[in-house]
Amino acid sequence: MASLFWVQPPVHNPFANRGDRGKVVPPVDFAAQFKSHRARVEQGLDQLVPPATTRPRRLHEAMRYALLGGGKRLRPVLTLATVDLFGPRATDALPAAVALECVHTYSLIHDDLPCMDNDDLRRGRPTTHKQFDEATALLAGDALLTLAFQLVARHYAARPALAAALTQEIAEAAGSERLIGGQMEDLLAEKKADATADELDFIHLNKTAAMITAALVSGGLCGGATDPQLATLRNTGRHLGLAFQIVDDILDATADTATLGKTAGKDAKAGKTTYVKLHGLDASRNFARQHTEAAFTALTALPGDKAFLSALIESLADRAS
Ligand code: IPE
Ligand code: IPE
Ligand code: MG
Ligand code: MG
Ligand code: MG
Repeated sequence: MASLFWVQPPVHNPFANRGDRGKVVPPVDFAAQFKSHRARVEQGLDQLVPPATTRPRRLHEAMRYALLGGGKRLRPVLTLATVDLFGPRATDALPAAVALECVHTYSLIHDDLPCMDNDDLRRGRPTTHKQFDEATALLAGDALLTLAFQLVARHYAARPALAAALTQEIAEAAGSERLIGGQMEDLLAEKKADATADELDFIHLNKTAAMITAALVSGGLCGGATDPQLATLRNTGRHLGLAFQIVDDILDATADTATLGKTAGKDAKAGKTTYVKLHGLDASRNFARQHTEAAFTALTALPGDKAFLSALIESLADRAS
């Protein structure tokens, strides 16, 4: 909207190619690179998760239903894009990327359960508990979380130090002080009239930014990143994760169910503590833009060609503009 332009300037991506008159030109191969990373992820998921015919069949069908039914694959693509920064001698990050998507998908299955957000639609299809039943959905989530660590242990067995570092990274991000802690405070803050900005930040940093950070750091670990580079990836992930959840909150309030593939308008109905509720739409868009630009700034300290990673970050912020 033209009238909003000066209030909400678009994000400035310092890594973007600039064409005539400074207009941002998306790297010609962004879509192709995204497609290729995504295709690797889809293939990895299909191959590394037990076949649907595995006993008990219903459980494996539910795991595969939740996992293979769409989704942006943001976290695994971030892992693959990050490891690419570190050159061809890096260890294959695909098993770690698949493990992260397993953890993420488990968190979505449980997030949608009636005892949590009570959602019927996910990734454009009935949620796992609707398609199967609550007990099956609960167990499919448990199994995906456990499978993630099995994959890391199995596929990095020849690199024990890397296996241990990935395990620690993913376990901490998914654990009681991060993802699950964020989910707990998200539920505790429901319908709370006096939720504070501190509570909101705790929720966003932990339920969402932790796993996004783990995706970047896992790519760095497979690439042999130094400690300062890992710290940079954490800083990037923190800002990107906050921007991503703010955008998710904005879209919940502004987009439609068909576009989202999940029920729109649920946060307000459930009385969730979101950026939109606490700060309003305009300020939320500004926060998302600021965190996106902070993520770009952090990226500068990393090696390699950051064009794809920065275009990916930009495309996520653009969803809410
Ligand atoms: C949804 O994550 C949950 C949040 C952390 C906002 P995504 O928006 O990445 O969901 P999928 O994986 O694309 O379905
Ligand atoms: C969920 O946040 C984050 C996790 C699943 C850990 P939301 O509850 O906002 O995610 P959506 O909107 O249902 O995807
Ligand atoms: Mg939730
Ligand atoms: Mg939810
Ligand atoms: Mg949401």
